[in-house]
Amino acid sequence: MSPRAQSRSNGQLPGGQLETKRARKPEKKWRAGVLGATGIVGQRLVNLLAEHPWFELTEVAASERSSGRTYAEAVRWHLETPIPEVARDLVVKGVEPALDCDFVFSALDSSVAGPVEEDFARAGYPVVSNSRNHRMDADVPLLIPEVNAAHLDAIPVQRKNRGYDTGFIVTNPNCSTAGLVLVLKPLADAFGLERIFVVTLQAISGAGYPGVASMDIQGNVVPFISGEEEKMEAEPQKLLGKWDGTRFIEAGLGISAHCNRVPVLDGHLECVSLGLKKIASLAEVREALQKFEVDEELASLPTALRHPVIVVDDENRPQPRRDAAAGKGMAAVVGRIRECPLHDVKLTLLSHNLVRGAAGAALLNAELLAARGFLKDRSARGATEVAEPALR
Ligand SMILES: NC(=O)c1ccc[n+]([C@@H]2O[C@H](COP(=O)([O-])OP(=O)(O)OC[C@H]3O[C@@H](n4cnc5c(N)ncnc54)[C@H](OP(=O)(O)O)[C@@H]3O)[C@@H](O)[C@H]2O)c1
Repeated sequence: MSPRAQSRSNGQLPGGQLETKRARKPEKKWRAGVLGATGIVGQRLVNLLAEHPWFELTEVAASERSSGRTYAEAVRWHLETPIPEVARDLVVKGVEPALDCDFVFSALDSSVAGPVEEDFARAGYPVVSNSRNHRMDADVPLLIPEVNAAHLDAIPVQRKNRGYDTGFIVTNPNCSTAGLVLVLKPLADAFGLERIFVVTLQAISGAGYPGVASMDIQGNVVPFISGEEEKMEAEPQKLLGKWDGTRFIEAGLGISAHCNRVPVLDGHLECVSLGLKKIASLAEVREALQKFEVDEELASLPTALRHPVIVVDDENRPQPRRDAAAGKGMAAVVGRIRECPLHDVKLTLLSHNLVRGAAGAALLNAELLAARGFLKDRSARGATEVAEPALR
């Protein structure tokens, strides 16, 4: 059996349990398209895909403003490394589901992502989305592989509910939720969680480009990010909850979030107070975070870290400028673990909003989907096979 066929059979595991064996490098790369490739998250995806061992970038798509131009002409490139050669001359297409690729990443603006992602899934494309539109849908996995890989079991139900054939939608969480939940997971497993109080200091790149006007953010803090507190209070309930075979059961946590925009380029800092179900010493909390380790299959995915939570001891860390790139941007960095006079424990965490909170998260989700057999070679179907968009 070829590695791709073998990895397909791995998708049949009951209960969505991660197999302990390593995911193997495929014989042939899966062809990836990026919707919203010109945006700040899309650029990160393009950059990460350029060197990816399992995926090959074959299509880029964006708005009418960009389509018809080469990627190099259309994009306002923000990364410090040059535009990858593989992407420079690709012609930017519109967001119609007629792309020559096996699956798509979506980094579309949320004003358009909802129906476009549905059109692609209906046309047979697996959609790995960064956008908020489908995150809380009753049959769509909101996925952090280290936290809730078993939620992939919702995909067959989604296909049945929506009449999708090979297509489906999987999403990653909001950028500040991603780092928070990665840190909550080992604590939930070891001690149980009751209450979470979190105050965020979020980077301006979290608002896309051009984002917050410089005159509003320079030398200032803006104590409001539209919709962010609601997302931070809702998404962890789904991520830390369970899929029972027919629906998601929420974790039932008490969560209160305050979200602030600060004049930092990349990296969301979060000050968290936690109420635990089981009494734990600070040393036990620290140990649970430090020992958090993913299994063999997950660790062998190209973007995964074996230890995705890094604990630092300096009293003035983590800091966005110094720590956002830890673990190539895929780690959540935790410091200042101490007693909380109101709850049980307080700590500070940091994660890279564009990597762990967006492009890297989507890439890891796609790698898990590939290893579990959810991606198919679409080349035999032909790029012109387009499903009718639903009436809306
Ligand atoms: N920034 C973050 O930290 C972060 C983290 C997690 C999730 N997200 C989510 O990821 C998505 C992308 O965010 P971003 O920060 O990359 O935003 P962005 O920089 O504003 O990019 C938006 C992308 O969507 C495309 N687009 C806009 N309107 C369109 C239309 N009518 N039709 C087709 N394409 C259209 C743009 O294409 P043109 O260039 O052609 O206009 C661009 O490629 C959003 O849903 C956001 O909420 C962002």
